[in-house]
Amino acid sequence: MQDQRLKDFLKEFIISDSQLQELYKRFTSEIQKGLTLATHQQADIKCYMTYVQDLPTGDEKGNYLALDLGGTNFRVLRVSLQGHHEAQIDSKVYVVDKELMTGHGTKLFDHIANCLAEFVDEHALNDQHLPLGFTFSFPCVQVGLTEALLTRWTKGFRCAGVEQEDVGRLLKEAIARRGDLEIDVMALLNDTTGTLMSCAHRNPECRIGVIIGTGCNACYVERVENADLLEPEYKVDKPNILVNTEWGAFGESGKLEFVRTDYDRKVDKDSLNRGGQLFEKMISGMYLGELVRLVLADAITQNLIFVRSGEKQRLTNILKDNAGCVETRFISEIENDTFPAFLQTRNILKELLGLENVSVEDCQKLKYICECISKRAANLVAVGISGLINKIAEPHVVVGVDGSVYRLHPHFDTYLREAMQKLVNPKINYELMLSEDGSGRGAALVAAVASKN
Ligand code: GLC
Repeated sequence: MQDQRLKDFLKEFIISDSQLQELYKRFTSEIQKGLTLATHQQADIKCYMTYVQDLPTGDEKGNYLALDLGGTNFRVLRVSLQGHHEAQIDSKVYVVDKELMTGHGTKLFDHIANCLAEFVDEHALNDQHLPLGFTFSFPCVQVGLTEALLTRWTKGFRCAGVEQEDVGRLLKEAIARRGDLEIDVMALLNDTTGTLMSCAHRNPECRIGVIIGTGCNACYVERVENADLLEPEYKVDKPNILVNTEWGAFGESGKLEFVRTDYDRKVDKDSLNRGGQLFEKMISGMYLGELVRLVLADAITQNLIFVRSGEKQRLTNILKDNAGCVETRFISEIENDTFPAFLQTRNILKELLGLENVSVEDCQKLKYICECISKRAANLVAVGISGLINKIAEPHVVVGVDGSVYRLHPHFDTYLREAMQKLVNPKINYELMLSEDGSGRGAALVAAVASKN
């Protein structure tokens, strides 16, 4: 992409090396603040205790149920752990529509219980009394493994009556309201914890679990002596605890203002959780498409792209009036497209804007816009992962990664590694590993590990 004017226009999305270092400094200091009792309240990154203190040994066996709420879909799973062999998983996806996402919590939990009952019925599991792990991927203060108070909703959920409540209790109550299910809720966990456990099951050197999907967050293995918030009785027998960082909240006290743009501010302003999850809003799948939509509309207004179409007003109207019309998967498709045919890009532009005969140059420009936005996201994730790797400071650290953005984007992994190269202590060897179904397998593993104790 050679157009200097467009390059200048997108400059504010390029993270310079010195900005990267500054972000790194601020990030690690926020993590420390979150872990420390005296500063925890003020910290953006809360570093919640998960009460998971053991990684899987690999010999976990048995049948489990798992629930997975908090990504694009709600799922119910049956996971059969078979020691060192691959786990067997059956799962079913259930729709959680906007009404359920923003209605009353009772409705949401009744829906969850109904789906669970349907699944148990369909799989003839009624008389098996299977232990259940609930992957609930929102920030929670855990009181123990089976009690977790939702701090606040994120990612487009806003059900009344759930914040500050124990989601384990809400699930059990919904199950009891049906009266026909006997289920033991053994563990509540975050998807990042599930990802870490699931990867550690395959690779015992896994110390970090990261999700780059609808939301973005990470969990890591911390030593109990560094976990101020952990009650002393948990420090006696076990050396470690998994910490759910909830790093998506980074920036809420202003620490990201030096890299945020007006587009980020607009995305935040139009969100359900204004002022919250500012780091996440620069990274995750729920927001990347929105950023591209806003930037593209502005680029058109400033005659930087699609000038030849002569339809500036019509194009910007479509983009401005249709929040959500640029899906995040379009970014992956556009960045994956090839010069000079740009078949995918042309299809998308036709569908989205009714544009035909788009020039090669315009396709290249659109690709460049997408690249700037996804590269920035990858740089930010790199700051987080590198901060945790350096903190763990073991000679070899494996990082389990999952989520739609990481899986579907053709170059996210490359961008991420490029930036991590600049930040990770060169004495540490690290490996990024794609996690397989952390929310399902991970939930079963947490339940399994819990029942060993
Ligand atoms: C949001 C949630 C967090 C979750 C992440 C990825 O950041 O707050 O709990 O892990 O999304 O799904």
